[in-house]
Amino acid sequence: MIKHLIKGGMVIDPSQELLGIYDILIEGDRIKRVEEDIFEPEAEIIDATGLIVAPGFVDLHVHFRDPGQTYKEDILSGSKSAVAGGFTTVVCMPNTEPPIDSPETAEYIRAKANCWGLCNVLPAGTITKGRKGEELADFWALKEAGCVAFTDDGAPVMDSDIMKKALELSAQLGVPIMNHCEDDRVAVGAVNEGEISALIGLSSRPPEAEDVLNARDCVLSYYTGGHVHIQHLTTALGVDIVRHFKDKGARITCEVNPNHLLFTEGELLKSGGNARVNPPLRKEEDREALRRALSDGTIDCIATDHAPHAVFEKGSVEAALPGIIGLQTALPIMLELVSREYLSLIKLVELMSTNPAKVIGVEGGTLKEGSPADVVIFDLKKEWVLNEETNFSKSKNTPLWNRTLTGKVMYTIKGGKVVYKD
Ligand code: DOR
Ligand code: ZN
Repeated sequence: MIKHLIKGGMVIDPSQELLGIYDILIEGDRIKRVEEDIFEPEAEIIDATGLIVAPGFVDLHVHFRDPGQTYKEDILSGSKSAVAGGFTTVVCMPNTEPPIDSPETAEYIRAKANCWGLCNVLPAGTITKGRKGEELADFWALKEAGCVAFTDDGAPVMDSDIMKKALELSAQLGVPIMNHCEDDRVAVGAVNEGEISALIGLSSRPPEAEDVLNARDCVLSYYTGGHVHIQHLTTALGVDIVRHFKDKGARITCEVNPNHLLFTEGELLKSGGNARVNPPLRKEEDREALRRALSDGTIDCIATDHAPHAVFEKGSVEAALPGIIGLQTALPIMLELVSREYLSLIKLVELMSTNPAKVIGVEGGTLKEGSPADVVIFDLKKEWVLNEETNFSKSKNTPLWNRTLTGKVMYTIKGGKVVYKD
């Protein structure tokens, strides 16, 4: 059996409240031991001196565009981008062509991902057939085919009766319902409502478009007992809404996209279409509320919403398709917030590994003995630039293109195999 020994790194594992210099012995695809000074002559050594060692990151929100739009991304390029960002498990969104509303499409994704074996690619099924918002998809069949969540992401579920039924079923199935909260009759434009929409004269997507659906879904979760996961939370009021209903005991989890923690709407003036995303970049007070909620338990997960689009689909703010790539930039953005003391490194690992694994109830997100050997090893200080040479995505739609980033993944290990090395 192949053995790896990760030596001398600063191990951070919130699942067992572990923080200190330890060695980790991997045997085959499992973690065998985590102790001080392990001696194992047969093992291949990975020197992690001066580096952080944590459970591989888990991303609940990526768009791999496969099947249907593989000129933007496919399962191989998406997986390469994921492991270069330290992710060993990702959940891919069902707004593909066709959408993941049938077992066949879910099985196609799992088979293709397994054939590359770089990272666990778990499909999310749609909530409604064809993502049309009219009729529930067959949750049992989709769960059977490996779907770990349901969402119509890219579009909201507008019909409250359908959402209520989805949550009732989710309570029976034990699978979370994830909603893209933006009322599509209120969110009609390209950017947040405010200075920028006024300046460039575009119709807008105001925060209330997001807050009304967020509040509705929290209410429905409260009454049905179903697990709702609020996707890409962006507003200050939204943080209060989630906090309120969590306090009341509702089964609610939520995620924030690193780009909403780093940028405000002003970024649109610098980066144009590359800063367009749904929900949109918001105001300073929203960003600050999100940042402050990272540490108090309101926000459960960081999720990248990695949303690749081709260069010709970006361009001007008005014409651009919404979305920003994010798998390789998530760690440096979150480390920037650690250095500004919005969260600790332990909290970062909780938000990027431990909690997301729990939300979908999969193995991973831990370095406990016997668990899958999914590990990320990163350098807190190493500077690098995201450019043609370092990017693994097929797309490059991010305001961070060509900018210097601090913090770099050095190794990603999935199931005991080194799947990325700097
Ligand atoms: O900006 C976004 N892009 N938001 C979404 O919800 C969907 C995504 C996409 O699919 O491009
Ligand atoms: Zn979305």
